[in-house]
Amino acid sequence: MDNKEFGLMRFLYLLLIVTILLQSCRTQDNGRVKTIDERVDSLVSVMTLDEKVGQTVLNGYGWDVSGPVMRETNMKDILDGKIGNLFNAYTAEFNLKLQKEVMEKSRLKIPLLFGYDVIHGHKTIFPIPLGEASSWDIPAIEKASRIAAKEAAANGLHWVLAPMVDICRDPRWGRVTEGAGEDTYLACEIAKARVKGFQGDDLSKRNTVLACVKHFAAYGASQAGRDYHTVDMSERVLREVYLPPYKAAIDAGALSVMASFNEYDGVPAHGSSFLLKDILRNEWGFKGFVVSDYTGTNEMVNHGVVEDTKGAAELAFNSGVEMEIQGNTYFDYLKDLVLEGKVKEEQLDYAVKNILKMKFKLGLFDDPFQYCDTIYEKETLYAPEHLETAHDMACKSMVLLKNESNVLPLSKDKKIALIGPLADSQDDMLGSWSAAGEAHIIPSIKSAVSTFTGRDVLYAKGCNVDDADQSGFDAAMKVAKKSDVVVMVLGESRFMSGEAASRTSLDLPGVQTELLEEVSKLGKPIVLVLLNGRPLTIGKEVELSDAVLEAWYPGTAGGKSVVDILYGERIPSGKLTITFPQNVGQIPIHYNMKNTGRPLYSQPPGFKYTSRYIDCSNDPLFPFGYGLSYTKFEYSDLQLSHSVIGSRDTLKVSVQIKNIGDYDGDEIVQLYIRDLVGSVTRPVKELKGFKKVFLKTGESKIVNFYLSANDLSFYRKDMSWGFEKGDFDVFVGTNSNDCKSAKFKLN
Ligand code: BGC
Repeated sequence: MDNKEFGLMRFLYLLLIVTILLQSCRTQDNGRVKTIDERVDSLVSVMTLDEKVGQTVLNGYGWDVSGPVMRETNMKDILDGKIGNLFNAYTAEFNLKLQKEVMEKSRLKIPLLFGYDVIHGHKTIFPIPLGEASSWDIPAIEKASRIAAKEAAANGLHWVLAPMVDICRDPRWGRVTEGAGEDTYLACEIAKARVKGFQGDDLSKRNTVLACVKHFAAYGASQAGRDYHTVDMSERVLREVYLPPYKAAIDAGALSVMASFNEYDGVPAHGSSFLLKDILRNEWGFKGFVVSDYTGTNEMVNHGVVEDTKGAAELAFNSGVEMEIQGNTYFDYLKDLVLEGKVKEEQLDYAVKNILKMKFKLGLFDDPFQYCDTIYEKETLYAPEHLETAHDMACKSMVLLKNESNVLPLSKDKKIALIGPLADSQDDMLGSWSAAGEAHIIPSIKSAVSTFTGRDVLYAKGCNVDDADQSGFDAAMKVAKKSDVVVMVLGESRFMSGEAASRTSLDLPGVQTELLEEVSKLGKPIVLVLLNGRPLTIGKEVELSDAVLEAWYPGTAGGKSVVDILYGERIPSGKLTITFPQNVGQIPIHYNMKNTGRPLYSQPPGFKYTSRYIDCSNDPLFPFGYGLSYTKFEYSDLQLSHSVIGSRDTLKVSVQIKNIGDYDGDEIVQLYIRDLVGSVTRPVKELKGFKKVFLKTGESKIVNFYLSANDLSFYRKDMSWGFEKGDFDVFVGTNSNDCKSAKFKLN
């Protein structure tokens, strides 16, 4: 071929590319609106191998655990189409700058996708997810996620790495803080609400973001509560307990999924086609894309299932991980793997299409800058409505664990002493996953008390959260002596929960308990406020205190929310979504355990050979669903519409609730069932419904629940999903332990 011919060929080739590109960017074809699939197909048809691989790469930019991680060459790689997605880059201005460069200088002008960890709020921080879950208020949780999405989108982001829906029954695991607790039914409801909140009704709107369900799968079951540890369970438990929340999120429309760090059944999730293909794609029909967790691909070398990172890239990609976060194994090897025939190009095309479809759905091809409007950003971040909602959510999330002699609510004329290492902390109000949250704008509990009472507060720190120094005890005793009531704010500092924050002891760290013991010697009423991210073993502290309020890490409006609850401006209504054990030796302990062949109650008292401990009762410190109010609710008249139902019938379960206390308040009414005889053993209780009802003092309401045979279904002995005829108990009550019960039969 001579130079002239070559020039002509090049010209024709370029012409072809430009034509196809114009085609793919056009939304119309002869007056007909082109589908996203058509637009994606024409785009992929002109992409080079490098550009295709680029769409599978997600790299961190800027702020990160290990400092700035963007490689110097990264901007060049972005413009060359070798990096298609970024995380940790935010603000409308910053992302606009990056996006503009891509739109101006890259060959194909494929917009970058910006992702970020938006776990419980973005700038306006909501309570930690375990706290939000304790509200059992599904519309409120959806609203909180909606606000998080609005703020994230206004801040230049398209994609949130949430919701985290891992069931956890071991509070030693620090990430228990990020989920909804131990129950599958409740976790499903919350997962759906979060996805709807993030994604809204139309992903292309400028105030909605793509959700990412994580961590797939069963990450919350790491052995011994140690983060990143092995997960080993039967497929029955996997399917019945752990998988449903991911499925619920996907059914609610979530279009991305993050693989988990753990192995399941001997295979790391990043290399598990059983999880990522058989279940996620083939059984569930998932249509979005799968992203790795942070270097989760590379870690398969440490897991010992591949020899090197190239092998890790091959295994992860072929198992269904379509985008890689931070590990760079796709960046480094995916092209070669395709050229060597170890990864099929069609498979790469499939992954790239799944990713590009999301960019189209987000409206990025129609307006790559729509998430980068600085005026809208200013109006949106910390909007008054967001702060009010964060306050409401924080109040709803707090759980009153004890209130002897009605020491709470406090009256304004009582002189309080505020003591404890967390009483004047702003930072710890945030929780561990409040990535863009800003502590300096948050009033501490101390400053919120002083704003509320209009006076300076008697305050002493007393000790640090986590060391043995008792030199502050004297000062604490001094202020305690001058007070009518002591409010102690104790717990864990924010990074004692969260990722890589597993603990073997769930006691209050440091000398906080000793401080409480010292103060209790004065005989003054003590209110203990806990800031922490997980169940703690606080039997002793509960005994020493007159009232205990579990405030979690309550977020941006946390200070005011704690104060409003303490002074009765808001009435506590939260209930635990995870069991508080008496001690670590009881773990795993959850309300929906199995009966065993030798249950405690079936034997005469003192009989040794039952399923129990010789040094501790089987009872938890606080059961699932537990939480008090300043008012009291009376349950009566549990009625079933039928004593026998057929498989197509609906059973109506009603109960009367009366507010017999002195305050208007909300009660979370819980319905559980027990399937008495099954082809496989069934839990002693299973949550199947709940309702949050508001009752004025003296008011009664009938609360109705409806159950169908579908609600009674489970994985039967042959692993088919369905119900089995027979006898059932139904329980309705104020927590999993305190219920009225009745019986019915499914025929
Ligand atoms: C966590 C993920 C998170 C990712 C990116 C990982 O260490 O497991 O939940 O989304 O980092 O920050």
